[in-house]
Amino acid sequence: MLSYAGMLALLLIHGNVMLPYVSSQNAGFVKSPMSEIKLTGDAFELYCDVVGNPVPEIQWWYADINRADSFKQLWDGARKRRVSINTAYGANGVSVLAISRLTLEDAGIYECRASNDPRRNDLRQNPSITWIRTQATISVLQKPRINSSDQEILQPKSGQELPITLQCNLTNSHSTHRETFWMKNGLEIPNTRTEHKHTKFKLSKPRTDDSGEYMCVYSFKSAPNANASIEVKGKKSFHKTH
Ligand SMILES: *[C@@H]1O[C@H](CO)[C@@H](O)[C@H](O)[C@H]1NC(C)=O
Ligand SMILES: *[C@@H]1O[C@H](CO)[C@@H](O)[C@H](O)[C@H]1NC(C)=O
Ligand SMILES: *[C@@H]1O[C@H](CO)[C@@H](O)[C@H](O)[C@H]1NC(C)=O
Repeated sequence: MLSYAGMLALLLIHGNVMLPYVSSQNAGFVKSPMSEIKLTGDAFELYCDVVGNPVPEIQWWYADINRADSFKQLWDGARKRRVSINTAYGANGVSVLAISRLTLEDAGIYECRASNDPRRNDLRQNPSITWIRTQATISVLQKPRINSSDQEILQPKSGQELPITLQCNLTNSHSTHRETFWMKNGLEIPNTRTEHKHTKFKLSKPRTDDSGEYMCVYSFKSAPNANASIEVKGKKSFHKTH
């Protein structure tokens, strides 16, 4: 595929000065990154999808929330390799910015910039004229602390099993707690919803099929859910790793 400059050069070589690039189209956003609230330790992804002819170049920039006038460009591998940028140029330009293992310092304004203006990287040009931009605000909250009981191993005795109580205590959170419920193997266990910060789930007569991955999930007024998982293992493991 020819670049804009290449096309222009070809047109000039052929002496056609009347119609330089009829089909060119300014860059425009099809999909913009969305603002989100995340917890420390988690990850987020922002999408940016751009049309234009020629296909626009995409860049990602970052500014601290309190210094929204000083953006710095982000690159793949930045922040000790927690930042990844994957961009594909096809019919559209599509780019995904991903940041993993979030810290409080990752909060801020993330900007997708796009341009197919041939003067876009000319330092004498004002970038606010040659590039279009769209922003998302990422807030990062301290992950709530949940103290949960240790993993349990079912101890089937002949006929009589000892009850098992799984426990979770919300010991620290920066947002107002709303509700707590339990899940087993990814599915909500009915009738476990409570507003208490300390919650228990009791297996009164544990059997082999009670084994699995249990999880207590806490929801908050203005923060993402937090959870802790507790594994309940059968005494004989039928799921040996190969
Ligand atoms: C967490 O739970 C353990 C018992 O399971 C307890 O000894 C410890 O003090 C608890 N920690 C907090 C911060 O509540
Ligand atoms: C949760 O809190 C209760 C009451 O304070 C305590 O008895 C229990 O040991 C705690 N459990 C865990 C896992 O922290
Ligand atoms: C549990 O927490 C992890 C880490 O924050 C998150 O990725 C996952 O989606 C949560 N799962 C549920 C069911 O809330």
